[in-house]
Amino acid sequence: MFRSLFSRLMAAYFIIILITLVIAGLFLSKALQKHIIRTTEEELLREAEELNRHYSLYDKGWVSHDYMKLISEGITRYDNTSIWVVRVVGDIGLLQFQYTPGASNSQEVAPFTKDEIINVLKGNEIRYIGKFGERFTVPMLTVGLPLKLDQRIKGAIFFHTPVQGINQILYGLYGDIWKAVLFSAVFSAILLYWNSRRISKPLSQMNEVSREIAKGNYNRRIQVKNNDETGQLALSFNAMAESLKNVESMRRTFVANVSHELRSPLTSVKGYIQGILDNTFDPEDQKKYLSIALEETERLNKLINELLDLSQIESGQVALNITSFEINEQIRRLLIAREGKINAKEMEIKIDFENERSLVNADVDRIRQVIINLLDNAIKFNKFGGRIVIKTWENRGKVYVKIQDEGPGIPSEEIAKIWDRFYQIDKSRSAGERGTGLGLSIVKRIIEEHGEKIWVNSTVGEGTIFIFSLQAHS
Ligand SMILES: Nc1ncnc2c1ncn2[C@@H]1O[C@H](COP(=O)(O)OP(=O)(O)OP(=O)(O)O)[C@@H](O)[C@H]1O
Ligand SMILES: [Mg+2]
Repeated sequence: MFRSLFSRLMAAYFIIILITLVIAGLFLSKALQKHIIRTTEEELLREAEELNRHYSLYDKGWVSHDYMKLISEGITRYDNTSIWVVRVVGDIGLLQFQYTPGASNSQEVAPFTKDEIINVLKGNEIRYIGKFGERFTVPMLTVGLPLKLDQRIKGAIFFHTPVQGINQILYGLYGDIWKAVLFSAVFSAILLYWNSRRISKPLSQMNEVSREIAKGNYNRRIQVKNNDETGQLALSFNAMAESLKNVESMRRTFVANVSHELRSPLTSVKGYIQGILDNTFDPEDQKKYLSIALEETERLNKLINELLDLSQIESGQVALNITSFEINEQIRRLLIAREGKINAKEMEIKIDFENERSLVNADVDRIRQVIINLLDNAIKFNKFGGRIVIKTWENRGKVYVKIQDEGPGIPSEEIAKIWDRFYQIDKSRSAGERGTGLGLSIVKRIIEEHGEKIWVNSTVGEGTIFIFSLQAHS
């Protein structure tokens, strides 16, 4: 029945509120009942005292019997109160009068036992609910107090009023209380409905949107109206949907880029082989075309290796193999391997190692990959006869490596994009040597995986500086 969060919230809160309201209603009714009985008793006692005063005048003969009757009727008219005035005559005899509304005269009633009035004769007030020893047919609220004449107790005065009359007032009040309870319940149900909707709506929307996302529709978002936890969750959900959308579009561009990068060398290799098979080329040109085809296959090989590297690093499948090694030595070896290219462009290499030996803790193969990529870029993009400065230094537990060239530089609006996969500013700028645009994205992943940082600083027309940090071996 209560399967949805909405109905569960509604039901739980409503039951709690209803229980609270009913308990409050019951307590209030009980308290009211006590209060009303108490005030009625006080009222009756006050009237009884009043009657006592009149009776003492009557006792002295100053007022007539009719006057007494009038007074008593005045008291009893409204609330059906019966008045008993009981006088002690001699030791045991009791003279009793009863004034009841509508009765023509005071009359004698059945004698009391001593027990019933003994308390009053001792000077006490009594309050009591009952039929007063079956003398009444309905329950009565009875108060009694001593009849005092000239400061002496001469008997008792009893006032009896039907409980029914009090109940009538009470029922009216109970009606008001339960009307208020009903009104509160209805009002809280409306508030609850609104509040439960507010909590559950973003959740059901999230449910709907996540189903849409699972189907491949990344454009649906949740409308966030409140700033509480569900609102925040909805915001995070929207952010997640946004990043999923980005990942999806990155995946699409990635696939498009890869296919494009694979297709162009394959098309040219195919063209050359076809040409050779069809004898389209002169025999002396065949070797030239074959070596171009070989170059293309090498490029393909490099591209595929780089892609594999990147996916391996990104998936975190291969853990870093951290050892301590000497970074300057690695840089020297990599430079020697690139001597041919450096000499071909008549470049000057300036080495500036602050310490002769700089030990670092890192994965040596991965860091070699970083240096190779940065060095290759510096060589590839440097101007003819330009200078390449390589510097290492140590500061606060870090070893920094800087590779600086005098190439064309990178425009500031492009700086952020150079780390993206396949991003190349201008495919023609590297003069002959075609890259894939994967080098720097691999560099960045490797450095990040080491928990280190890489910075780039470039001035168009002057050159580019790459600096990265490594953990020094202490
Ligand atoms: N030292 C540099 N000077 C000027 N531009 C640079 C430099 N290094 C990188 N770039 C720019 O950033 C782009 C991305 O560099 P990245 O190393 O990722 O790719 P690539 O060198 O073109 O190809 P790959 O490294 O995969 O062979 C380059 O195409 C180039 O436009
Ligand atoms: Mg590169």
